[in-house]
Amino acid sequence: MGTFDLVVVGDANPDVLIAGAPAVPAYGQTETLVRAGTLALGGSAAIVAHGAARLGLATALVSVVGRDSAGSFVLDTLASAGVDVSRVTRHDEEPTALTVCLGGPDGDRAILTATGALASFDPRELPRARHVHAASYFLQPRLAGRLTGLFRDARDLGATTSLDTNHDPSGRWNLAPGLLGACDYALPNESEALALSRTGSVAQAMAALAGSGTTPVVKRGRDGAVALTEGGVVTARSHPVDPVDTVGAGDSFDAGFLAGLLDGGDLTRALALGCACGALSTGAAGGTAAQPAWEQALAFARQGHEEGR
Ligand SMILES: Nc1ncnc2c1ncn2[C@@H]1O[C@H](COP(=O)(O)OP(=O)(O)O)[C@@H](O)[C@H]1O
Ligand SMILES: [Mg+2]
Repeated sequence: MGTFDLVVVGDANPDVLIAGAPAVPAYGQTETLVRAGTLALGGSAAIVAHGAARLGLATALVSVVGRDSAGSFVLDTLASAGVDVSRVTRHDEEPTALTVCLGGPDGDRAILTATGALASFDPRELPRARHVHAASYFLQPRLAGRLTGLFRDARDLGATTSLDTNHDPSGRWNLAPGLLGACDYALPNESEALALSRTGSVAQAMAALAGSGTTPVVKRGRDGAVALTEGGVVTARSHPVDPVDTVGAGDSFDAGFLAGLLDGGDLTRALALGCACGALSTGAAGGTAAQPAWEQALAFARQGHEEGR
């Protein structure tokens, strides 16, 4: 097997997306009608892999699903997009992870996840790639324990590395010592950056993360993204969009950012491509339906750049 552009390691599951949910759903065996429901590919790693394949990268996902129809849905959706799923294993007993996302008032959402087979996900090695990206650190404790070693192995073979921890349901936000030092780019959103660094501002968070030996790239929703490099702070605006659904925007950002890096390595352009892919992904329900192809992402990034002048 040749070298992939991108190997993504982490979570894959169906997302059941409910639009128009009440802030607090009524219990007591009550049935509540909502505006819409969508079944979509979910899991941060799976959405990144899907987005990267859409952008033309030779992409493999390393993950685990169950021997159930949810797992078949995940595999079929990824394979149809051109993602190599030969390293997605099927757990013999545990079910595929599943997320229900309740879209409530004012664009807020509640995310309910059963991690199923991901709780014991324990990949020993990764296929060769130009870049290795890991997602949803806190949902996969065994992967978390192994990730520093996997990143170091990947780097020894010439790869660069990145991590999008996503949220920590436990609220502890502890990363293994040495992990960020083995990680070229950390890709949190704003609240995750503050929690991981135990600081009170994005500037402080970026300084703290950079002090651990990574390049922090912080996603700021409609405000775009910001990175701290050795040369200073680099920002990219997001293009004004009217979001249909922001699920997976951060993951689509990751795909665009990594595709930009792998296409020449310029961080400013990578940030702009990330913002373009994040913004475009909000155009449809779910994380993957509105992910752009490369030409569309480039055109949108260019347009946003001109508007931002
Ligand atoms: N409302 C929005 N308008 C324009 N771009 C957006 C919007 N929401 C998200 N994005 C884009 O998607 C990226 C990731 O979204 P964000 O909400 O910050 O991350 P996450 O989904 O991980 O919480 C942002 O950096 C931005 O480029
Ligand atoms: Mg995210």
